[in-house]
Amino acid sequence: MQNIDSNTHLRGESIYLDDINVQHGTLYAACFDSAIAHGKILSLDVSGALQMHGVVHVFTHEDIVGQNQIGGIVPDEPLLADGHVHFCGMPIALVVAETDEAARAAVKKIKVEIEPLEVITDPRVAFAKGDLIVPPRKFNMGDVDGAWSTCEHIFEGVVDTNGQEHLYIETQGAYTVPAENGSIKVYSSTQGPTAVQRAVSKVTGLPMHQIEVDVTRLGGGFGGKEDQANTWAALCAMATQKLKRPVKYSLHRMEDMRMTGKRHPYSTDFKIGLDKDLNMIAYEASFYQNAGAAADLSPAILERTLFHCTNSYYVPNVRATAYSCRTHLPPNTAFRGFGGPQGMFVMEAAITKAAEALNVDASVIQQRNLLVTNDELPYGQKVVSEANECWNKADELYNIEQVKKQVTDFNATNKQYKKGVALMPICFGISFTNTMMNNARSLVHVYSDGSVVVSTGAVEMGQGVNTKILQVAAKTFSIDPAKVKVNSTNTYRIANTSPSAASATADLNGKATLIACNAILERLKQVASNELTISVDRIELKDEFVFVDAQKTETTWLQVIAWAFMKRVSLSEHAHYATPEIHYDKTKEKGHPFAYHVYGTAIITTTVDCLRGTYEIDSVKVVHDFGSSMNKAIDLGQIEGGIVQGIGWMTLEEIIYDKEGKLRSNALSTYKVPDIYSVPKEITIEFLDTDKDNLAIFKSKAVGEPPLMYGIGAYFALHNAIKAFNPNAKLAFDAPMTAEKLLMGLYSK
Ligand code: MTE
Ligand code: HPA
Ligand code: MOS
Repeated sequence: MQNIDSNTHLRGESIYLDDINVQHGTLYAACFDSAIAHGKILSLDVSGALQMHGVVHVFTHEDIVGQNQIGGIVPDEPLLADGHVHFCGMPIALVVAETDEAARAAVKKIKVEIEPLEVITDPRVAFAKGDLIVPPRKFNMGDVDGAWSTCEHIFEGVVDTNGQEHLYIETQGAYTVPAENGSIKVYSSTQGPTAVQRAVSKVTGLPMHQIEVDVTRLGGGFGGKEDQANTWAALCAMATQKLKRPVKYSLHRMEDMRMTGKRHPYSTDFKIGLDKDLNMIAYEASFYQNAGAAADLSPAILERTLFHCTNSYYVPNVRATAYSCRTHLPPNTAFRGFGGPQGMFVMEAAITKAAEALNVDASVIQQRNLLVTNDELPYGQKVVSEANECWNKADELYNIEQVKKQVTDFNATNKQYKKGVALMPICFGISFTNTMMNNARSLVHVYSDGSVVVSTGAVEMGQGVNTKILQVAAKTFSIDPAKVKVNSTNTYRIANTSPSAASATADLNGKATLIACNAILERLKQVASNELTISVDRIELKDEFVFVDAQKTETTWLQVIAWAFMKRVSLSEHAHYATPEIHYDKTKEKGHPFAYHVYGTAIITTTVDCLRGTYEIDSVKVVHDFGSSMNKAIDLGQIEGGIVQGIGWMTLEEIIYDKEGKLRSNALSTYKVPDIYSVPKEITIEFLDTDKDNLAIFKSKAVGEPPLMYGIGAYFALHNAIKAFNPNAKLAFDAPMTAEKLLMGLYSK
């Protein structure tokens, strides 16, 4: 089934926030944000802005009726600066004017005097000062200290990964409209409608039932709108509350890049121990997360780094510690993989370091240590592993030895160009790591004409979740998909939603939809049974007809709906789903936090121009654990997009803050993202089709985040190409591997 949005996307008819027809009298907002990363506000003068033509009001923290607070996990983030600024881009004031142009022109007239204070951008410096967002987290398995003496080989090192700009095509924004009795309707480009509802409620002081949040779709979120869409919605709502007029704010690209947080940079120390047969015996890591100026989602991201610190390998003795360090950068936030990729990169760097010192191929260590079913991860969960299955199928299909030989042969006969190859196995846990978040609801109505509408808490952001939910309803009722519509995500229809995140959206909201549809279906079968006087267990609804004893009858879906309506049987259902089996004890750091894991193996090949330092990704060949994919077109799209986004993080995309905490890579002229020229020349994706019991919707495993981590292999393929050119190259593990770094590496000694 094709993505239900493809026609309107292609014609440019799909509605995003900025496409919503604005009401007569709509005002426009724009932020005045801090140019100083850390300091004390001595004076703020907004009079110049107020005198500008078209300006209606300039808001500061003093205008806030409720609380000046938007922190989600920790209440440490003011909406508008009050006394101090904590990062460049922090909102200080909000201008509201009759036009967008007037608002932006007036912003330039605001004057602020800030006494600069010390700026910290390095998480290790923040750690040394003891400035942590939350207490450290520590995962422990086996006896690490005792294990070192049994290791034949021990290696240590330092690893850095940089951040990543989300670069959703649609920038952040909100549109708020006053409703009766002081209520506010909020249109928001958010992954978390309930998070927006809560933030707006807090800032306006209105109860949540006065706040309606509605989301049709996003032009991408990638985690950047899990928490950070709240700001713009709260700012607009604050203005609507006071001015009783609709207020819109749609950020310009440079505002968005400057004011919002990104993937967390990490700096990490590792130590790995292997026995003489290259089995990993012990692993120790200390992760320093660059959280930025406020907690945002950092504590949750920190824990996922620990959950994935051994990637898809079994290590019996592990001690991993993670520190969330407060710096003066915009609060960093969720980004596809949610801290997992940062943890996995360190493990791959440790393996690479060991392999080079021992003069074996990294793939030998990787393969030897892959998880097998019933292996225990450092947090106590025993796995149902597909790691070897993916690896072996990749070998069968792509012949790993032959790929390596082609690279070696090429390198033996070429001087200017060198190839590199790396394998990248992945293992990613599916569920919110915070167990309580793993629940969802669905509201299904069957109308008297036989058409169906489904509402859930799922937000469509390009990942195809609405198509999957529509498939669940169409398949369960066994009706033409054209009879089903998925409604916008709205907090009046579905309450208390978890954000669309953790790759779990289709599982959670799909299962709730399945429960709702099945409940209606059971009632319809009972109605048909009564009307036809045939026992219910002989009745089936299939292809829009009633089947009796598997024989098609003349009675249609529409007829049964008409009977149910006449007999006053409910054609609606609201269902709740909570993932079974999962649990986690944070005091012990043990439990079974994930419904299941997703596995895969990628082989990445690259060619480096050793004169220029430029490179191409030749191919990415994957065997991916889909379970039984319910929509192969959408799932393949997720894998291709994830791979390219992962390669971007690892190779091209370089976020640069200067020592003053100012973003230098603040536009697409200075921040390079993958384009059609830099994507791999070849991407091949094969299905590991399995039919095992798991908690995925229709056994179709979650696919949103895991493929991003295949991109990590591109870094190590480049690393290997440099080593082929210069075996003595001194290479730090410091992602991204930009062309500049690569060139320096080629000629390093
Ligand atoms: N794909 C598109 N096209 N756009 C997005 O914003 N977000 C990713 C992934 N794939 C994203 C995407 C992230 S970060 C997550 S968590 C999942 O989709 C969320 O959707 P899912 O739970 O339905 O997989
Ligand atoms: N993944 C993604 N988003 C989240 C999570 C998670 O585990 N927990 C809270 N938000
Ligand atoms: Mo995705 S980072 O869980 O929104």
